[in-house]
Amino acid sequence: MAISTTRLDRFISDYCQVNRKSVRLMLAQKRVYVDGLLATDIGKVVDKFSYITMDNEVLQANKAHYIMLNKPIGVVCATKDEKHKTVIDLLVDKFDDEITTNLHIVGRLDLNTSGLVLLTNDSRWSERLTSPEHKVAKCYQVTLEDPLTAEYISAFANGMYFSYEEITTQPAKLLIISTYQAQVTLTEGRYHQIKRMFGRFRNKVVALHRHSIGQLSLDEGLSLGESRVLTADEVVNVAD
Ligand code: URA
Repeated sequence: MAISTTRLDRFISDYCQVNRKSVRLMLAQKRVYVDGLLATDIGKVVDKFSYITMDNEVLQANKAHYIMLNKPIGVVCATKDEKHKTVIDLLVDKFDDEITTNLHIVGRLDLNTSGLVLLTNDSRWSERLTSPEHKVAKCYQVTLEDPLTAEYISAFANGMYFSYEEITTQPAKLLIISTYQAQVTLTEGRYHQIKRMFGRFRNKVVALHRHSIGQLSLDEGLSLGESRVLTADEVVNVAD
């Protein structure tokens, strides 16, 4: 979901219903500001979060929203669902409609997976976190039905071929915590990836919980179903 951009002259021409020649004049008269800075370049690129004013009148002031949620099992990572409660349903009592209706989910979790889910209306930010080339680490706590062995570690590190997608998974880190528990770090998000990887060993995942994405850990103060707004530092540093 790429964030759409437009040229400043086009934005003003559409907004004010005037031709481009008039826009050029408005800019030359130093009447337009973008993000607090005087804008004179007609070709300046703006997007939906650019704060645009003319003659001190606000033409556009959309705010970006960034939320973390501790998703419980049984809640679906979708904006609408006929059967199950959605992650958006968990936010509606806390956030305005104007915010929740524009959010999208940054990397879904399965219905029976719990833990950290990020939601935003800023698609440039979510793309940075989910695009394969950025290789942002997602960390999961996994509980298995059968005991773990050391051979899992190399199998995860070497990658596994998924014939359905015709891909080999990126190297994944598996840390054995106890006989039935591991921490797995992925840098991608294939369909049911962790369950399918343990499935190669015919070992069933009985519990799966995501506790971090990039530099951002699930806030331990959030109970299942609870959410909070990210701090400015968290927003900026998550993908470092
Ligand atoms: N891998 C899975 O199998 N499920 C998830 O929800 C996340 C990663």
